[in-house]
Amino acid sequence: MPEIHWDANLYNKQHHFVSDYGADVLQWLAPKPSEDILDVGCGTGDLAAQIAEKGANIFGVDASTDMIATARKTYPELAFEVVDATKLPYRQLFDAIFSNATFHWIENQEALVEGLFRSLKTGGRLVAEFGGKGNVKSIIDAIASAAAQLNLADKVVTNFWFFPAISTYTSLLEAKGFEVEQAWLFDRPTKLNGEDGMYVWINQFAQHAFKNLNPEEAESIKKLAVSILKPHYYNNGEWTADYKRLRIKAWKR
Ligand code: BEZ
Repeated sequence: MPEIHWDANLYNKQHHFVSDYGADVLQWLAPKPSEDILDVGCGTGDLAAQIAEKGANIFGVDASTDMIATARKTYPELAFEVVDATKLPYRQLFDAIFSNATFHWIENQEALVEGLFRSLKTGGRLVAEFGGKGNVKSIIDAIASAAAQLNLADKVVTNFWFFPAISTYTSLLEAKGFEVEQAWLFDRPTKLNGEDGMYVWINQFAQHAFKNLNPEEAESIKKLAVSILKPHYYNNGEWTADYKRLRIKAWKR
């Protein structure tokens, strides 16, 4: 996983769309009372709380201590733990596993999927949504193009997310024992808050791209990337990011 600093306050204030949009995928999960459900990459716990409202026993895990601290403070009645998604220590414990906007951050997908499979009871289901093939392509291209224009192309990193095609991901799930029921790749244009919404997004989510650059170089790329994107993605005072989601439902039979 790239090293990203997650600021839970900023995330709640500026990036709340992540859990707002995530509410839709909960329909695929359809949690039932008294089910044991693991939320992988639970962030500040908002979707875990919605799952708990249906009567399920939710257990939220996230690699970020800051996110888990906020989740515990916001929802003290729920269980949260700092756990690396590639090292899930559970064996046949959960009726379902849920995950939103997390898998694209994970480098070791084999370890992730093996851990998910192990953690589920037989008959359990996995419902996950994350960035799919082509996700935020225009943002990635704008960063690369800005870096090239500033002669910094060799220092910028743009390939640290995992945005798989349907076939790539369903093959991986099947190779690890899952039976895939549904997989859906779809465009989901995503509104970003405020006039500086794209800058703030790049600053938070693409920080790994600039890890080899000094602050001035990074700043010049971010600003130029925003100006490249502006004519196409800033309309009527609102930024839109070109999100593409991969949503899957799979079973451990
Ligand atoms: C996403 O949810 O698709 C996403 C979020 C941050 C960075 C890249 C992708």
